[in-house]
Amino acid sequence: MILFKTVSYKNFLSTGNVPNIIMLNRVPSILITGQNGAGKSTVLDALCFGIFGKPYRNISKPQLMNTVNEKGLEVEVEFEVNEVNYKVIRGVKPNKFEIYRNDQLIPHDAAIKDYQKKLEDIIGLNYKAFTQIVILGSARYQSFMDLPTNDRRVIIEEILDITVFSKMNTILKTKIQNTELDIKENDYQKEIYKTKITGQKGLINSIVNRSKESEEKIVQEKNKIDGQISLLDEKIQQSDSEINQIVLVDLNELHDKLNNAKFKGQEIKKKRHDVDNRISFYKTNDHCHVCTQAISEDIKNEQLTALEAEAEKLESLKPVVLSTYSKLEDKISEATDVQENYNSIIEVKKDLINQRKALYTLYGNLTSRTQESDERSLKDAQKDLEVYDTEYKKLEKEGHELVELKHYYEICKILLKDDGIKAKIIKQYLPVMNQLINQYLDRMGANYSFHLDESFNEVIKSRYRDSFSYASFSEGEKMRIDLALMFTWREVAKLKNSVNTNLLIMDEVGDSSLDADATDVLWDILAGLENTNVLVISHKGQNGDRFKSLIEFYKDGNFSKIKDSKK
Ligand SMILES: Nc1ncnc2c1ncn2[C@@H]1O[C@H](COP(=O)(O)OP(=O)(O)OP(=O)(O)O)[C@@H](O)[C@H]1O
Ligand SMILES: [Mg+2]
Repeated sequence: MILFKTVSYKNFLSTGNVPNIIMLNRVPSILITGQNGAGKSTVLDALCFGIFGKPYRNISKPQLMNTVNEKGLEVEVEFEVNEVNYKVIRGVKPNKFEIYRNDQLIPHDAAIKDYQKKLEDIIGLNYKAFTQIVILGSARYQSFMDLPTNDRRVIIEEILDITVFSKMNTILKTKIQNTELDIKENDYQKEIYKTKITGQKGLINSIVNRSKESEEKIVQEKNKIDGQISLLDEKIQQSDSEINQIVLVDLNELHDKLNNAKFKGQEIKKKRHDVDNRISFYKTNDHCHVCTQAISEDIKNEQLTALEAEAEKLESLKPVVLSTYSKLEDKISEATDVQENYNSIIEVKKDLINQRKALYTLYGNLTSRTQESDERSLKDAQKDLEVYDTEYKKLEKEGHELVELKHYYEICKILLKDDGIKAKIIKQYLPVMNQLINQYLDRMGANYSFHLDESFNEVIKSRYRDSFSYASFSEGEKMRIDLALMFTWREVAKLKNSVNTNLLIMDEVGDSSLDADATDVLWDILAGLENTNVLVISHKGQNGDRFKSLIEFYKDGNFSKIKDSKK
C-alpha cells in the first residue's frame, strides 16, 4: 500500500515562489475548485513531475518553470510505503533529485536513471500505471481503451503484481547469455586440455617406444658384446689348445749340449793341431830338440804312421762334430721359435681376457644407464598426464553443470514468457476483472457489456448492437467505461495489494460528459471507496457538500494560490 501524504510545489507553472501545499490524506475527499486557469490541474502535473520527473500533461521540462520567476522550481512529494516514510524532492534551476527514506538521503550511488528506477521500485508503480490507476483526467487523459495492447499488458501486469516475472525474464536473459559465454569458455578450456592430453599421451608413447628402442638397442648391443665375448672365448680356447699342443724343449739343456759339443770340437781341433805339429816335426827334424838325440828312421816312420793314423782318426771326427753342431743349432732355433710362439699366444690370451673383462663392464653400464633415465621421464610424464586428466574431468563436470543450468534457464524462459506463468495468472484474474467492469458499468446504467480477452483486446457488446467499438460510443458512454476500468484496476490492485494506493484524482470527470444520473452514481461509488483519498477537480464547484474538504485555487496577479480551506 502506497500512502501519498503531501505534494508541495513552487515556481511550477503558474505557482510562484510561495509553495502550494496539498495534504493528500488528511481527509477522505477533497473538492478542488477554481476558475479556468486558476491552477487546479497543476496539482496533477506537480505530483507526476515529483514522482516521475515528467508532468501529467504534455508539457516540456523547460516549460514547467514559472515564467515570472524563472528559477527555483521545486516539487516535494511525501508518501509512506510499509510504514516507511519517503520524501522526493525534484528541482530545476538548481537541478535537484533527492529521495529520503525516513529523512535519510538515499545515496546517489548510481546514474539518475537508476536512481529513478529505485524510486519506482519503492512505489511499485511506473508512470503508465500511475496515470491509469491514480488519475482520471479530462485534459490529456489517455483511456486504457486507446492504449496499444502492449501498454495494456504493462498496466495489467503492474496491477496483478506480475512484473516480477518480466524483471526475472530480463535477469534471466543476462544469465543465459553469461551461461552461454561460460559454456563457450568451458568448451575452449576443454579443447586446450584435450590437446594437452593428446600431446602428453604422445610423449608417453614416445618415451615407451624410446625405452623399447633402447631396450632393443641394449639387446642388440648385448648380442654384439655377447658375440664379441664368445669370439674372444673361442680365441682364448684356441690359444689354450694351441698352448696345450706346444711341447716346450728346455733351451738351456740344448745350449749346454751345444757348448759341450763345441768344447769337444775344440779339443779335437787342438789334438789335430798337436798331431799335425808332431808329423811336421818328424818330417822336418832328425834330432830330438830336447835331448838332441838322433831320431831313427824307423822310429820316425813308426811315429809318423801312428800320428797319421791319429790325424786320420781326428779328421774323421770332424764331420761328426759339425753335424752335431748344426743339429743342435737347428734344435735350438726350433725350440726358440716354439717358445716365442708360446709366449705370443700367452700374450694374446691375456689381451683377450682383458678385452672380455672390458666388454662385461660396458654391458652392465649400458643397461642401467638407459633404463634409469627413461623410467624417470616416463614417471614425470605420467604425473603430468594425471594432472591434465583431473583438470579435464573437472571441466567436463563443470560443463555438464553449465549445460544443465542453461537447460533450467531455458525452462524458466518458457515459464517467464508472456504465454507462460503470467498468462496463467492473467487468465485466472481476467474473469474477475471482466465481472467487476461489468458490475460498475451496470451501476452506472450502461446498457452494454464489456469483455477483455487474454491478449487484452476488448469485446464490447451493446444490447441491440453486436460487437461495438469503443470509439463509436458517446463521450458519456466512454467515460463510463473509463471509470469502470479505473475502479476495477483499483479493486484488483487492492485484492493483490500490488499498486494499491490511497490516492484517486479526478480532473473534471463529472463536469461535462456524464449525465446527472451517472454523476450521482459516481459520487456514490467514490463515497463508498475505503481507505481512499479522493481529489475531485471541478471548476463548477457543485456538490461541495459531498466532500470533507474544499480547496479553492485563485490567481493572485500572475500566481496561482490556494484560498484558505473551507473545511
Ligand atoms: N510556465 C508557466 N508560467 C506561468 N504560468 C503558466 C506557465 N504554464 C502555464 N501557465 C498558466 O498556468 C495556469 C494554470 O493552468 P491549469 O491548467 O492549472 O488551470 P486550471 O485551474 O486547471 O484551469 P481549467 O479549469 O481551465 O482546467 C494557466 O493560466 C496557464 O496559462
Ligand atoms: Mg484544469
